[in-house]
Amino acid sequence: MPQLLRPPLVAGNWKMNKTVSQAHNFVNNLKEAVTEVNDVEIVICPPYTALFSLNQVLKGSNIFLGAQNMYYYEKGAFTGEISPLMLQEAGCRYVILGHSERRIYFGEEDTLVNLKVKAALRTGITPIICIGEQLADREAGKTEEVVQKQLVGSLAGLEPELCQMVVIAYEPVWAIGTGQNATAFEAQEVSNFIRKLLVNNAGSNRAKKIRLLYGGSVKPDNIAGFIKQPDIDGALVGGASLEVADFSLIIKAIKKEVENKCQQPS
Ligand code: 13P
Repeated sequence: MPQLLRPPLVAGNWKMNKTVSQAHNFVNNLKEAVTEVNDVEIVICPPYTALFSLNQVLKGSNIFLGAQNMYYYEKGAFTGEISPLMLQEAGCRYVILGHSERRIYFGEEDTLVNLKVKAALRTGITPIICIGEQLADREAGKTEEVVQKQLVGSLAGLEPELCQMVVIAYEPVWAIGTGQNATAFEAQEVSNFIRKLLVNNAGSNRAKKIRLLYGGSVKPDNIAGFIKQPDIDGALVGGASLEVADFSLIIKAIKKEVENKCQQPS
């Protein structure tokens, strides 16, 4: 089977959900449900407390670990924070950065996200950088302006070689946890805009290799529409990643669409 230029990726952002024992239970069931899936990269982003021990359970499986946030110093007097080195040792391959909930509830801005992105890449952890407009921005016709500001700010000063490593998640804030997903057309429009902007940071060949995810009320019954889009390479899933049944249906639907994409002439 031919491979896609950008390997598909689906990440479950559990947010502040699941204790360690609940997390283990989930992962043991998910492993069984998706044993056949080897052409989609599957990532679970549990709370920090579950990372280390889940890594033991996931060893040798087709499911990888990500964190939901981190600080940018290696160590030091930053009470309550977690460093890239700690995440690396806990087995994280990915870290979500700049999620809208971090921006809204904890005041994170692009300059901080940028420092975190650089620290993650220095440590060999792939950042999944979240960007997206609020409802008022969309209604005011400012979606592109907002997305551009967040993207440019998050990637400032990154060499093209490093820039190529990042994953960008387009998550319109009005679609998160609301059940009101963007249409596949809307998501593709913004994703294509993002890919064009990435040429400035990474050059045109590298920009073609950067994976773009859609996030915001992704469910088993709407995922296929997103994955069919030429610039969407996967999904960042919140609520529907908390149930094995839903998350595995999403993963299998992505696998199916990826197989279709592979058959199409590029
Ligand atoms: P929902 O899938 O619950 O809308 O959350 C999306 C999200 O915030 C993923 O990071």
